Amino acid sequence: MHNGKLYLVTGGAGFIGSCFVLGLVKGGRAGVVTMDKLTYSGNPHNLDSLAGNNRHRFAPGDIGDAVLVSRLLRAHEPDGIINFAAETHVDRSIADPAPFVQSNVAALCTLLGASLEWWKTLPPAKAATFRFLHISTDEVFGSLGPGDPAFTEETPYAPNSPYSASKAASDHFVRAFHETYGLPVIITNCSNNYGPRQFPEKLIPLAIINALSGHPIPIYGSGENIRDWLYVEDHCAALELILERGRPGQTYNIGGKSEKSNLEVIRTLCALLDEARPERKPGSAGHAGLITLVKDRPGHDFRYAINCGKIERELGWHPALSFEAGLRRTLDWYLNNRAWLEQVQSGEYRRWLEHNYQNR
Ligand code: NAD
Ligand code: TYD
Repeated sequence: MHNGKLYLVTGGAGFIGSCFVLGLVKGGRAGVVTMDKLTYSGNPHNLDSLAGNNRHRFAPGDIGDAVLVSRLLRAHEPDGIINFAAETHVDRSIADPAPFVQSNVAALCTLLGASLEWWKTLPPAKAATFRFLHISTDEVFGSLGPGDPAFTEETPYAPNSPYSASKAASDHFVRAFHETYGLPVIITNCSNNYGPRQFPEKLIPLAIINALSGHPIPIYGSGENIRDWLYVEDHCAALELILERGRPGQTYNIGGKSEKSNLEVIRTLCALLDEARPERKPGSAGHAGLITLVKDRPGHDFRYAINCGKIERELGWHPALSFEAGLRRTLDWYLNNRAWLEQVQSGEYRRWLEHNYQNR
């Protein structure tokens, strides 16, 4: 299928996974087999631009399906597995933790088990360079106060939401497969991503959709909660470096060095919208007039911040794009991809809006 490297990317039809797959395949740096269950947030159209590209295959399926995973591994003999597959939205995990336990913990263990069995059959040279790269989140570290130092790789886990608890559990299982069986795993813990193709249940694309249709932009609580924002392509560049030169058994924090309160994020976005669509400015306050404080998220973590000194020192990675530049690119993408936006606002999406926002 491809002369160079070939990877199995699970969850590759989602927001970050599709960015990773598109970058690798279009950049000619590797071939990819994308495996994805296509949940509500997985979207095959995210990979439409690879149609007919012989360096890419799409395999629909669940990482919890050991038979399918084993078959794909035997058929394609990948140089690594990059696992993005997960249930990912904190508010949905609060509404119902069960799918998070199922995909992020139980199915992940099945993926690990099938990967291990296949890895054990590899000739020593291939087994030594094989990597299982597991994509995780800074949310496993819990919540910081305003003056606390940023999370390092040594910060103890203290997850507060069902989502972050399930991701913490997944990280522990991945680590255990290294310690117990020697599987060459690497774990990355990244801060909040933003960019094209993010499902519009998350803050930034939700705000864009609502602003474009003149609906209120809901901000939980006081809007003072802080996240460390990273443009998705910067995250994917870090992952490629880690895949090539990261050390097995290690974890790497990845962050944007760009802490912003939710109100700052949305005010910056509204100013960009005022510029991009002056004719649609709703009232004298502009799009910012749509900002509406609503009931807080239960257990809402106050602040996340990442110390990414380790990956900077060891691999020379730095976030390339400023928040303002990344947000401008993101907004441009949503403005220029209306068909994508229309298509993802399905019945399921509307049901979620009703559930999460109607009586807030
Ligand atoms: P996403 O919800 O857009 O994508 C997740 C993908 O996984 C979807 O395509 C979905 O169909 C697929 N999937 C879910 N369960 C599956 C299963 N059992 N088998 C196969 N496929 C399955 O999420 P995202 O934002 O792209 O996140 C990708 C990964 O990055 C997740 O593991 C998430 O925890 C992690 N992460 C996300 C962020 C962020 O800000 N978005 C930050 C740090 C880490
Ligand atoms: P989100 O995009 O859900 O990411 P995460 O919870 O994983 O950090 O939320 C980012 C921040 O925005 C978080 O502090 C919650 C807040 N938020 C709102 O204020 N309103 C919303 O409608 C949503 C979805 C999130």
